[in-house]
Amino acid sequence: MKKLVIASSNPGKLREIAHALEPLAIEVLPQSAFNVPEAEEPHATFIENALAKARHASRRCGLPALADDSGICVDALNGEPGVHSARYAGEPVSDERNNRKLLATLAGETNRKAHYYCVIALVRHAEDPQPLIAEGEWHGEILRAPRGASGFGYDPLFLDPELGRSGAELALEEKNRVSHRGGALTRLVARLRERGVVL
Ligand code: IMP
Repeated sequence: MKKLVIASSNPGKLREIAHALEPLAIEVLPQSAFNVPEAEEPHATFIENALAKARHASRRCGLPALADDSGICVDALNGEPGVHSARYAGEPVSDERNNRKLLATLAGETNRKAHYYCVIALVRHAEDPQPLIAEGEWHGEILRAPRGASGFGYDPLFLDPELGRSGAELALEEKNRVSHRGGALTRLVARLRERGVVL
């Protein structure tokens, strides 16, 4: 595998994925380089959406493709917004409105537990019957006010209790070391090496 398309237009995700795959001898290209628009995400599970996005990008580009489907699952909301995280506050997609809605929904709630979940799917071609799948979780708490300016999405509201910092207070390398996406990508790279797909 010499080239890999990343099936996302989310700049935050693209930065984290590109950074984690840097050590590999692979050219990583965003789907925007091929004018591929965002795929539909009609499914109720992360894994189905990740596969749909990876197959869509691979079909359009004629190359292996990797997709991430992820979200934040809040205990007090029975796992919501979950797969609906990107559009929690509706269209157009806005991290700021999503964060405001989450804070308002949890006002007065003492159970602040939440976790991020990420599943990565990699297909060698659009019809690949053996996609590589890797998952990751990141457990923490929802803060009562935003903190920090890096990261994206819900990061200013997500506290890593062990580090005592929000996702938006972590540098890219630090976030990749502990995050749901970082964990999934580490597992994916190990599997690619096991299979001899990359060095
Ligand atoms: P999707 O995978 O494109 O459906 O969207 C994932 C959504 O989940 C993002 O738009 C964010 O709202 C949220 N999300 C996933 N991972 C992260 C993260 O690492 N930080 C902050 N928000 C995230």
